[in-house]
Amino acid sequence: MTAQNQPALALPVVDEELATRLQARMAEVEEALTGHIVSEADFVTTAARHLMNAGGKRFRPLLVLLAAETGPNAASDDVVTAACVVELTHLASLYHDDVMDEADLRRGADSANSRWDNHVAILTGDFLFSKSSELTADLGADAVRIQAKTFTKLVEGQILETLVPAPDADPIAHHLRVVAGKTGSLIATSALYGARFAGAPREIEDALAAYGEIVGAAFQLSDDILDIASESDESGKTPGTDLREGVPTLPVLLAQRSADPADARLLELLGTDLDDDVRHAEALELLRAHPAMNEARAYVVARATEAKELLKVLPEGPVRIALEGFADLVATRTA
Ligand code: FPP
Ligand code: MG
Repeated sequence: MTAQNQPALALPVVDEELATRLQARMAEVEEALTGHIVSEADFVTTAARHLMNAGGKRFRPLLVLLAAETGPNAASDDVVTAACVVELTHLASLYHDDVMDEADLRRGADSANSRWDNHVAILTGDFLFSKSSELTADLGADAVRIQAKTFTKLVEGQILETLVPAPDADPIAHHLRVVAGKTGSLIATSALYGARFAGAPREIEDALAAYGEIVGAAFQLSDDILDIASESDESGKTPGTDLREGVPTLPVLLAQRSADPADARLLELLGTDLDDDVRHAEALELLRAHPAMNEARAYVVARATEAKELLKVLPEGPVRIALEGFADLVATRTA
């Protein structure tokens, strides 16, 4: 706990006044979220609160609040509602994602599919998405349109991930499209919503939306690097899951471009089903030591730098510094 007895922010904010304000606003978001996830059926409330109570960094609502600091009405109720909309949409997608990935762990807790079953996980995701949609309606028709388009991109990204790119397509370009859709879209909307509902000028709204899309993609790419690099389940997820499930990630795609004979064993393993524990462990070890890991990290850092360039439309000061810090944190995260 920090000043005013509020939980610490997932982002270190240097300016004390800004940090205190954001912490207080995050506490409001947290309380609102708990209130929104209530069903007439107690079991649905329990299942829906399961992952929310398990933790999570709350990056998306925090970005809404931070982006709102660029406008004159950062303290408006609509900003808190928008923060709840993005977190509930994200939470809903996690319930579905863990079914698709057959994941056992999420946020250090049993995933809903493992705690209950796939049906409960899917329907709880639907319930959370419906709650998010109800709240979006309170924000007006434009917000509903933005949310609908965001959701289209998110689902398209998730579907594209399950498809093998056409033989003449660049697998890395395909992957970056997947990442922009499944993660960049909602993080872009988080930044846009913050600016919009705080009444920031259009130029700032556009810059923040573009910044959010890049930071969001970088966030996902870092997440995928961590899935390979982390030794334990410190991320609250089981490491190596993408590899086991055969989900393509940037380090794997970069390694697969190698023509170095020393990579023959890794490439052979990557071309097979890695559900087998021994082969999975061998592939993970070879991949961790492969230069593709640093190449992927360098790509993420370059994207974060690109995102920070877009912030030049903002006046210099604590909010811009915090948004720059957000991009840096995403690029270099270790958990
Ligand atoms: C995490 O990816 C997943 C997403 C960013 C989005 C998933 C979206 C869906 C499943 C569609 C949701 C549909 C509804 C109706 C709510 P990941 O598996 O790469 O990340 P992880 O390591 O956190 O699991
Ligand atoms: Mg997953």
